[in-house]
Amino acid sequence: MKISVIGTGYVGLVSGVCFAQMGNKVTCVDIDEKKIENLKQGIIPIYEPGLEDMTLENYKNKTLNFSTDVSSAIKSSKIAFIAVGTPMGEDGSADLRYVLAVAKSIGEAMEEYIVVVDKSTVPVGTADKVRATIQAELDARGKTIEFAVVSNPEFLKEGAAINDFLHPDRVVIGADSEMAMEIMRELYAPFMKHHDRFIAMDIKSAEMTKYAANAMLATKISFMNEMSQICERVGADINKVRSGIGSDSRIGYSFIYPGCGYGGSCFPKDVQALAKTAKDFGYNPRILDAVEAVNYAQKYVISNKVIAKFTEDLSGKTFAVWGLSFKPETDDMREASSITIINELTSRGAKVVAYDPKAIHEAQTHYLVGNEKVSYVESKYEALKDADALILVTEWQEFRSPDFEEMKKLLKNPVFFDGRNQFSKEKMAKYGFEYFQIGVN
Ligand SMILES: NC(=O)c1ccc[n+]([C@@H]2O[C@H](COP(=O)([O-])OP(=O)(O)OC[C@H]3O[C@@H](n4cnc5c(N)ncnc54)[C@H](O)[C@@H]3O)[C@@H](O)[C@H]2O)c1
Repeated sequence: MKISVIGTGYVGLVSGVCFAQMGNKVTCVDIDEKKIENLKQGIIPIYEPGLEDMTLENYKNKTLNFSTDVSSAIKSSKIAFIAVGTPMGEDGSADLRYVLAVAKSIGEAMEEYIVVVDKSTVPVGTADKVRATIQAELDARGKTIEFAVVSNPEFLKEGAAINDFLHPDRVVIGADSEMAMEIMRELYAPFMKHHDRFIAMDIKSAEMTKYAANAMLATKISFMNEMSQICERVGADINKVRSGIGSDSRIGYSFIYPGCGYGGSCFPKDVQALAKTAKDFGYNPRILDAVEAVNYAQKYVISNKVIAKFTEDLSGKTFAVWGLSFKPETDDMREASSITIINELTSRGAKVVAYDPKAIHEAQTHYLVGNEKVSYVESKYEALKDADALILVTEWQEFRSPDFEEMKKLLKNPVFFDGRNQFSKEKMAKYGFEYFQIGVN
């Protein structure tokens, strides 16, 4: 099938590459000319395991193309995916300006029947807005052309995006036209050869499914972080509590790790956007508001522990930070806890020496620009030289089994704040570290 994917970010590029991998003819479109030029040269804008090889292979095979020309892409496509960003607006709602700009371009360009697919995460009711925007353009052009608008929320996880897309847990499609539903079924059939994972529903339920999924995951994290706060106060150990409750199959082990808060491009904005939608419809979303409030506070837990150990004024102190990305296996730093922690420490006079396997460039160019108290190094051990303490923020695999003897030699003091509870207190005591965790005294 001929497909255009408009918006070539994490979701758009991964989707486009995976559809091409299945033999479709895909054009990935973006308004960012530099990004498209780079992609044509084989320069991939993001770090995502496996993405580079698959992009290069499909571009070489001509199943995948890159363009800034949305109009020609639309004219030759049977399906157009909208995969642009839906950032958080000032009032917490999802900003639909990019989605509706794409809808307008589609209405301006389309010449024959097309299925327009909302893959961006959008509030309930957005498909209606996309349909109205396209229809308004057709009316202005005096054209009568049929089209369908479909909701197909994306559930991929950064860091495992290719695998998630090629082997999805589920493909949720919301449509109000049988023909469009059939086209989507055909498109996704190669991704579910072993087991039908296609879940068909109405459009509003599909739009809501994405928000409900992210809100549920964020709730599990904030719930566990709240438990960790209670554990610290009553003298219990959250790691033991986690094992104790995770073994209950009704609860399960996933997403119940305590930590220094969730970040990323999805949970923070989606929880707030859903809360805003609820309020717009006259419902007070008490759980969602609490999930967000707990997460906000959790991002300060590590810096508060540092202050408790070293006092409010941190001038003259240097902290090594391991991990900048919001989670391992990605260079994405959107809403990362590292930003809050680092800014909090440096605003109190501390210096920070940071190391991350993939996200240093992001920090330098976007998220910590202008913070002169932060410097970057190329290895985890280099960050430790003469630092007053180590702070682990992102649980990259290379931090799982470090050489503790070497660390002790390099650090000025063997003090370790672990924002992801990677080690046990007993083990760290054996190596002579003063070790601080989340949810353990
Ligand atoms: N990143 C994730 O893990 C993830 C997972 C599931 C769903 N989502 C959702 O998918 C959507 C996209 O997220 P993302 O992380 O890929 O965003 P992103 O910011 O990485 O990419 C968005 C891209 O859209 C481009 N763009 C903006 N306006 C455009 C226009 N008019 N025409 C063409 N291109 C345009 C931008 O230049 C950018 O390259 C969001 O709604 C997000 O919530 C993201």
